[in-house]
Amino acid sequence: MRIDIITVLPEMLEGFTNQSILLRAQKKGLAEIHIHNLRDYTLDKHRRVDDYPYGGFAGMVMQCQPIDACITALTSERHYDEIIFTSPDGDIFDQPTANTLSMCQNIIILCGHYKGIDYRIREHLITKEISIGDYVLTGGEIAAAAITDAVIRLIPGVIGDEQSALSDSFQDGLLAAPIYTRPAEYKGWKVPEILLSGNEAKIKDWEMTQSIERTKRLRPHLLNSDFDNE
Ligand code: ADE
Repeated sequence: MRIDIITVLPEMLEGFTNQSILLRAQKKGLAEIHIHNLRDYTLDKHRRVDDYPYGGFAGMVMQCQPIDACITALTSERHYDEIIFTSPDGDIFDQPTANTLSMCQNIIILCGHYKGIDYRIREHLITKEISIGDYVLTGGEIAAAAITDAVIRLIPGVIGDEQSALSDSFQDGLLAAPIYTRPAEYKGWKVPEILLSGNEAKIKDWEMTQSIERTKRLRPHLLNSDFDNE
């Protein structure tokens, strides 16, 4: 899978995408992440990519030309399944969206900045708008990083033990059960007895009961109707 990220702050994303899981995915040839500095595409001699909004509103707006030039350069090379814009008014990002995106071949993520981008870009070039939550960030880079991380870790082979992505919180629509490691007792805080029993069937039952209980308590909206009336 290939992700092209368009940003005015490439340094902010380069550090992030060259660490840990994302670095491993790229080294294994399972993912390519390309970061594009929007300023490299502007025709403005001062490398400006924004201008004042029409209508006398406050703030600055990212102009059509550099965004169009960058997206056009990319789409002339290959087909993109989605051209995503990160914005607080997009669809809220969740695990099903991450799953869907992880099956794409190529995606572009355009990071929003300033007051916004010229609306014509959203109308004519963007295929999907994503928000990572109902709060306003200074720019879309953190959102692009969150989306990239959540999507790439789902590509088969990226995480050593494939099971571990499958057993993530949300992956089966439930939150994960609590997890513990040695020692079995620390400062008098005990690991649940059942986990030390070696009884695999009972442990699986316990895990499911815990998952359902935690989901009911912490994310009731995730529960489907099968569990609603319990
Ligand atoms: N840009 C600013 N705030 C954002 C958010 N909550 N999600 C995605 N992009 C954003």
